[in-house]
Formats: sequence, structure tokens, C-alpha cells
Amino acid sequence: MPRHLLTGEELSRDDLYGLLDRALELKAAPRSSDALRDSVVALVFEKPSTRTRLSFEAGVVELGGHPMILRSGEMQLSRGESVKDTARILSRHVQAVGVRTGPDAVLEELAAEGTIPVFNMLTAGHHPCQALADLLTLRETFGRLEGLKLAYVGDGNNVARSLAILGATAGVEVAVAAPAGYQLEPVAGAVLTGDPAEAVAGAHAVYADVWVSMGDEETAGERRAALGPYRIDDALLDRAAPDAIALHCLPAHPGEEITAEVLYGERQRIWDQAENRRHAQKALLEWLVADRQNGY
Ligand code: CP
Ligand code: NVA
Repeated sequence: MPRHLLTGEELSRDDLYGLLDRALELKAAPRSSDALRDSVVALVFEKPSTRTRLSFEAGVVELGGHPMILRSGEMQLSRGESVKDTARILSRHVQAVGVRTGPDAVLEELAAEGTIPVFNMLTAGHHPCQALADLLTLRETFGRLEGLKLAYVGDGNNVARSLAILGATAGVEVAVAAPAGYQLEPVAGAVLTGDPAEAVAGAHAVYADVWVSMGDEETAGERRAALGPYRIDDALLDRAAPDAIALHCLPAHPGEEITAEVLYGERQRIWDQAENRRHAQKALLEWLVADRQNGY
């Protein structure tokens, strides 16, 4: 059975810590691994992407592999070919597949019906590759993960859920501040509150994401109204730990969920965080194909 990364729950703490150690090694020596030599990695995008596409495409090349970018609208999937049949064909030609789509069920079916590793490049439910890069950024900044606190302020969405899941695995306390109707469901280990000030008290990182995720455009007006008070500015950062950093998965909307002062200011690690996508994902790709001799 190949390894997969659909939600992040596949990783034990040892797996996660090993992966982040490896990501730091790869960041220091980006061309030091040819783990994907003679391999093709399919990257299927049903939604737009800047960082995920750039970091995966560049990362696969750095590992000696070939990234095959597929827009789902150009595949027979868009004409009704089943996910099951698509999984079978992908498995005959490539060594791993990443997917950005809406329903998590698409990834689950690909993993069930194919024979190659499947990884989640963002679904409505999860964004585990983002959380890996975020934990790498925390590890780099503070030299440790256990005992840190991260406060996520905003919509209880895919990014919040992945931070809560992988934060718990890493030993990072994750607090999510969201308004009623936009809060995450309970996730083991995560603290849920309606109050941004409560969430950021003692936090080492304060995290923002967009108020309107891809697929939520129809409710943009009501989201902006409800989420208005859930923004990161200097005053909110001042309530966190003295050495607290600001994080954002990007793309950002300066003036909405984060002020321009924070986005481009001294206390952010947002642009390093975006770079860390590549390093974390390269370590992930190595982990996914590590047992490749087992037949796929
Ligand atoms: N953070 C992130 O996944 O960015 P993209 O949507 O640009 O890939
Ligand atoms: N929550 C956002 C993340 C974008 C990287 C979305 O799903 O659109």
C-alpha cells in the first residue's frame, strides 16, 4: 500500500518531526537529493494556485523528477470520466499524484482506486501541505515546536483545520478565534473561542487566512460582515507573546484579514513561510515515495 497525505492524520509525531528535520536539510542543500530521479509526479489543479503550483513544480525538479501539470478542465474528468478510472490511468503512468479540488471525497477515491501515493494540494476540508510549511516556519523561528502556541484568527476553514490537526500532532497548542457560524468543529487539542484577544494571549504565532475561500464566493458579503473584527493588526499582535510572529498562508487581502503594516512589517515571517512550502513538500515527496520498491 502506498503512503498518502490526504488530511495530515496519516503522520505520527515521529513522522512529522523527521519530515521537518529533513526539510531543514533540504533547505540548506536544495539540490542534494535525487529521490524523484526517473519519476513523474502529476499535479492536478481544479482550482487556481500560485504558491502550491510554483513550490511543487520547482520542488519536483530539484528532486530530479518531472512535474506534469494537469488542469482538470483539460482532462476527460471534465467530460464525466470517473475518478476511479482516472486513478487507474494515473497509476499506470506516474509515480505520485497531487490534487487541488473541492471535495475531499475525490482524493479518498483516488487513493482507494489507484496504486500510487496521493497528496492533498488543498481541498475544501484540508490544506495539510500548508500546515507542514507553517510548522517548519515555527520550528525555524523558535528552534522547537513543543510548548508553542499558535492563534488562528478568522474563518474556521481548511487552513484552520489542518493547523489544528497537525499542530496537535506536533505538540503546538492551536487556538482558533472565529465568529459564530464560521467556527471549526471540535478538533482534539484545539481551543475554540469567539474572542481574538483570548486566542492570541501568550501566542508565539498569530495566523490569518482569507475571509472568502475558493468556492465561498456566493457568501462573500455576509462573510466580510461577520469576519470584519477577525483581522490581524499591530494592536492584536501586541497582545501576543513579546517575540510573536505573524503568519498568513497567502494570497492576502491587505486591509481585510491583515493590515499592510503587519503583512510587510518586522514581525511577520509570511514570505519565509511561502518559501518553506517548497522545502517542506520536498521532504513530504521523499516520504511518500520512500517505500516505492513495494511495487508501484
Ligand atoms: N497558500 C496557497 O496554497 O497558495 P496558492 O493558492 O497560491 O497555491
Ligand atoms: N482558505 C483558502 C486558502 C487559500 C490558499 C482557500 O481555500 O481558498
